[in-house]
Amino acid sequence: MSRRVLVTAALPYANGPIHVGHMLEAIQTDVYVRARQLAGEDVVFMWADDTHGTPVQARALREGRPPEDIIAEAYEEHVSVYRDFGIGFDIFHSTHSPENEHHAGEIFRAMEANGYVSARDVEQFYCPHDKMFLPDRFVRGVCPKCGAPDQYGDSCEKCGSTYASTELGEPACALCGTTPIRRSTEHLFVSLAPFEEFLRQWIHEDGGRLQPTVRNYVLGWIENGLREWDISRDAPYFGIEIPGHPGKYFYVWFDAPVGYISATDKWARDGGHDFAAYWQSTPDDTEIVHVIGKDIVYFHCLFWPAMLKASGYTVPSRVQVHGWVMVNGEKMSKSRGTFITARTYLEHAPAAYMRYYYASKLNSGQDDLDLSFEDFVNKVNAELVNKAANLASRCIKFIGTRLEGRLGELPADAAEFAQQIRARLRDAPTHYQAFESSKAVRGAVEVAEIANLYVTEQAPWKLAKTDPERARCAVSGCGPVRWSRRYSSRCCPSGPNGSSGCSSSLSH
Ligand code: 2FM
Ligand code: ZN
Repeated sequence: MSRRVLVTAALPYANGPIHVGHMLEAIQTDVYVRARQLAGEDVVFMWADDTHGTPVQARALREGRPPEDIIAEAYEEHVSVYRDFGIGFDIFHSTHSPENEHHAGEIFRAMEANGYVSARDVEQFYCPHDKMFLPDRFVRGVCPKCGAPDQYGDSCEKCGSTYASTELGEPACALCGTTPIRRSTEHLFVSLAPFEEFLRQWIHEDGGRLQPTVRNYVLGWIENGLREWDISRDAPYFGIEIPGHPGKYFYVWFDAPVGYISATDKWARDGGHDFAAYWQSTPDDTEIVHVIGKDIVYFHCLFWPAMLKASGYTVPSRVQVHGWVMVNGEKMSKSRGTFITARTYLEHAPAAYMRYYYASKLNSGQDDLDLSFEDFVNKVNAELVNKAANLASRCIKFIGTRLEGRLGELPADAAEFAQQIRARLRDAPTHYQAFESSKAVRGAVEVAEIANLYVTEQAPWKLAKTDPERARCAVSGCGPVRWSRRYSSRCCPSGPNGSSGCSSSLSH
């Protein structure tokens, strides 16, 4: 029996709309899930909004309304846009939920009981103007590692390193610009050092668990020494209060990935599925696959497996990392006009075009993918419209208007044509399973090319006058007939009523 498979995409933040960058990951994950389902596997797609933390809190402050309003609004937008793109998740839940509070609490209690959590005072930035401790995202300054200016207080967008906000150069309060002062407050820390052996083994195990470049990256972090992780934030903080530590809240990155678990819990409760079979299992029985972008590897490949290991939940079998989306060769940015929301895209073009474009370019690497409008239009027109859709449309129309809408079967002498097509279809599931959808799509385009050529050679519009049954058979294989994996080439020399042989068993 094949393993149960649970797939996730990263949980989008609830502080903004879904943009074309998010859609890359949504489409990559959806294509992967559907392909494995089509191959007969038991695959579910668990998803949610990532709601907590400073971005939402800051917006709530700015707009003078409760954070719950903001996340409810985001939820509607996210779900509707993903649905309009045909993303087939089994549930879209929220980290602001009782299930998430429960599982984050369980994981924390297990870590605390096993001695992995310690409390100590830290100096933190405090804004004398706003009268609050400044969470990482409320401080901007110069990255202590690479010197990039205007970085957030938790991690650098330029070099990807993480640090404490007090390590930033030239710090400023992100709300009011005031230079913050240092003040002491108690924080809770998780030590990662006890997980070193486990993590070393986890990143190497299974061959396909991490892509080689990602593995090297993570190994580098381990070699540099695993630092403690500060998992608490002081009130006011929009998040989950830490059990047994009043006034302290989980840092958003602690409860965000727990959303994968709580979505499964909610889905299992609502639909009568077996929660434990997914998250209280082993990688031998349950394969957990996370699809993420390259900026959040640290969280998914160090903290997350350690949290799961410490608390006895199933550890992931695979973390698949993709690159970023560029728009016309540039980083997406509002000021340059390259920040395009998914909704805006849908006002101009069908979802299928973007699904096609991304799937046709995605592979298992982390290179950035350029959404170049010129390439987009050319590719969609040349491949999807002119090759695939046009083939199906002309064959279907021909059968409908000239051949009474009845299908035939492929002629016996089409064995070579059939063989060429089967060869391309055979490899598709393997390509999809390896996150190499560009190869699978390339195969599909070749199928369309071969079939177009076949139709042109057969010239059914001429045949229809002299041998309509032969015309029917020639055209049926190029449009409406579904190429079954059970195809067998039992071609008879001559077909019914003495017309050309058409009895190969293509199932419809
Ligand atoms: O980077 C992000 O956009 C995060 N919201 C991703 C969270 S993924 C998971 F951990 F929840
Ligand atoms: Zn301030």
